[in-house]
Amino acid sequence: MGNLKVLAMFLLLLVSIAKAHPGAVFDVHKYGAKDDGKSDISKALCSAFKEACACPTPSKVLIPKGTFMLAQVSLEGPYKAAVTIVVRGTLKALTDPKKMKVDGSWVTFQRIDQLTLSGGGTFHSQGPKAWDTCGLKTYCKQLPIVSCNNLTFQRFTISAPEHSINTDGIHIGRSNEINITDSNITTGDDCVSIGDGSQQITITKVTCGPGHGISVGSLGKYKNEEPIIGVTVRNCTFFNTMNGVRIKTWPNSFRGSILDMHFEDIIMNNVSSPVIIDQVYCPHNKCNAKLPSLVRISNVSFKNIRGTSSNPVAMKLACSRGIPCQGVEIADIDIGYTGKEACAAVSECNTDCDFNCKI
Ligand SMILES: *[C@@H]1O[C@H](CO)[C@@H](O)[C@H](O)[C@H]1NC(C)=O
Ligand SMILES: *[C@@H]1O[C@H](CO)[C@@H](O)[C@H](O)[C@H]1NC(C)=O
Ligand SMILES: *[C@@H]1O[C@H](CO)[C@@H](O)[C@H](O)[C@H]1NC(C)=O
Ligand SMILES: *[C@@H]1O[C@H](CO)[C@@H](O)[C@H](O)[C@H]1NC(C)=O
Ligand SMILES: *[C@@H]1O[C@H](CO)[C@@H](O)[C@H](O)[C@H]1NC(C)=O
Ligand SMILES: *[C@@H]1O[C@H](CO)[C@@H](O)[C@H](O)[C@H]1NC(C)=O
Repeated sequence: MGNLKVLAMFLLLLVSIAKAHPGAVFDVHKYGAKDDGKSDISKALCSAFKEACACPTPSKVLIPKGTFMLAQVSLEGPYKAAVTIVVRGTLKALTDPKKMKVDGSWVTFQRIDQLTLSGGGTFHSQGPKAWDTCGLKTYCKQLPIVSCNNLTFQRFTISAPEHSINTDGIHIGRSNEINITDSNITTGDDCVSIGDGSQQITITKVTCGPGHGISVGSLGKYKNEEPIIGVTVRNCTFFNTMNGVRIKTWPNSFRGSILDMHFEDIIMNNVSSPVIIDQVYCPHNKCNAKLPSLVRISNVSFKNIRGTSSNPVAMKLACSRGIPCQGVEIADIDIGYTGKEACAAVSECNTDCDFNCKI
């Protein structure tokens, strides 16, 4: 049973990802939706979805071309046979915060097994309004939760401006077997962030940037976090991002573990910190960095990573002094420095790592 909550704080472009199912089509127009750019279609969408759920054979909910306003909705299963939601038009979020619940969600899918979302349409969250409200700190206490199994994002575009605060492209947590492929992410925070309880995450053919890169963690700040196991990032390209591929854990932390992380065939273009393990991650300097992180990092590989760094330190491996990283493998790193000084990129690593750093 998948439990998927999607919040689009940004613009999502979805392109068809699956073969069409035969069977009934529930067009939101038939349920009173108007694409006049004013009327909220949430009731129409829920009615269409409800009928699709009751349908004994695979069916589709169709949002045709046009621009539709959509308030917060929760589309909940179970349903009798697979449902495909085909978004051809643009769905725009309402911008009046009074009409929104404070849980930070916009479109939520829950208790659904076998969902396909396709059609090449757009989820337009009217992000700047949310960033303004977030700026006021009244509104964004709860981040969206994504918890699901066996989910693929394919030919997906996520775009938010570089200056938008806290706009992770895709955040994954407590989820198994998530694939992200053939997708472009530009945003103000992590392109993909992988939190506790994530397992078997595969990211291929993704371009990231601007943004903060692809991050595993941070772990260690909270008690009882589940391990992160099995992350592969392959054949990806970064443009002008703050970080490239990164694993981060807090110092003075709770126990935790990060296992089986593989980063390979990656191109960095003018990335500030292309390769990092940071076990003294402490963004606002409000922690005791003298006490080591107790998150164990093991079986990590960085292979065939090429390109340029905008910072002379291309690779930084700061493992925990308490629990040294184990099984870190580094091969074929070729990263040049784009800065003015005529110096090649260097690497920094603390002595606890059981490998030799060499670029
Ligand atoms: C994942 O989903 C695919 C496509 O729906 C299905 O064929 C496969 O069996 C699923 N795998 C698991 C482990 O559920
Ligand atoms: C995700 O990718 C892995 C590795 O390529 C593959 O084995 C798995 O079936 C894929 N899962 C889905 C849901 O597409
Ligand atoms: C991602 O960007 C590349 C290069 O601009 C483009 O060729 C590709 O079609 C884009 N992918 C998607 C899913 O939009
Ligand atoms: C990704 O794979 C394709 C096909 O093998 C290759 O042409 C491309 O250069 C690769 N990109 C990176 C970043 O490795
Ligand atoms: C490279 O990155 C630096 C720092 O992020 C930025 O100031 C500079 O404009 C970038 N250069 C190019 C050519 O994009
Ligand atoms: C790490 O990888 C090695 C070699 O592939 C394997 O023998 C070992 O069991 C792995 N460690 C863990 C903790 O999985």
